[in-house]
Amino acid sequence: MGRGESNGGARLRALVDMIPEGSRVADIGTDHALLPRILLEERRAAHCIATEITPAALDRLQDRIGRFPLPATLELRAGDGLAPLLPSDRLDVLVLAGMGAGTQVAILSSPLRTGLGSCRLVLQPQGEPAVLRRWLAGNHYRIIAERLQEIRGFFHLTLAAIPHQRESPADHPVLFSEDLMAAGPLLVRSGDPVVRRFWEIQLHRLRRLEAAGARGAGGKQAAEDRQQAKRVLEALPTDAL
Ligand SMILES: C[S@@+](CC[C@H](N)C(=O)[O-])C[C@H]1O[C@@H](n2cnc3c(N)ncnc32)[C@H](O)[C@@H]1O
Repeated sequence: MGRGESNGGARLRALVDMIPEGSRVADIGTDHALLPRILLEERRAAHCIATEITPAALDRLQDRIGRFPLPATLELRAGDGLAPLLPSDRLDVLVLAGMGAGTQVAILSSPLRTGLGSCRLVLQPQGEPAVLRRWLAGNHYRIIAERLQEIRGFFHLTLAAIPHQRESPADHPVLFSEDLMAAGPLLVRSGDPVVRRFWEIQLHRLRRLEAAGARGAGGKQAAEDRQQAKRVLEALPTDAL
């Protein structure tokens, strides 16, 4: 499990909140199957399929929870990414949480995804959110909810996206498209103080990196990222201050 798990409750709650009641849900890379168990206990989900990448990982999970009979509404399956899921599962929601954005993109890029129908995606990437948002924008998904949480000094992003017929480029009167991919088209308009705090910390970190005097490609990247952080901070709504 990832960092900040001692406060996994709040992080998992952000996922739960983005799952419509009565959904049939697949939790890909479920680890301890905490999310499916909450979804079923609270009757938020009608059915959950909890997957792990290898049979060995699934066995470990089964050992942990297997002492109790599983409800008929919870299935455990082994396989890489979308491989264990079938069109006949009639899924409404795919959850990918606690993996790097690159891993999530690799899983979602599988041709198996289209066979699963038009599922809502509920995603909690670890790092590189721009990679994930760029993939969503380029694959006809519209982000309908974004939440940033600070839990014991770590920031956790959760977002929900639904399939959308047309390309829906994110736009903003001031920010560039790349800024929106980094900052989140909904988060930049949210007025949430956590978003300002995140970008203030980013700006501070990038200023230090730049001042550390890296002259090569690293320094150039830090300068560009610093300028982006400054633009984002200036564009955040001020009425919540
Ligand atoms: C850090 S844990 C997160 C567990 C849970 N989703 C959560 O957010 O609390 C990441 C899990 O994803 C699983 N995983 C990584 N790559 C995967 C893949 N390609 N397919 C299925 N599971 C994967 C790992 O085995 C691990 O249990």
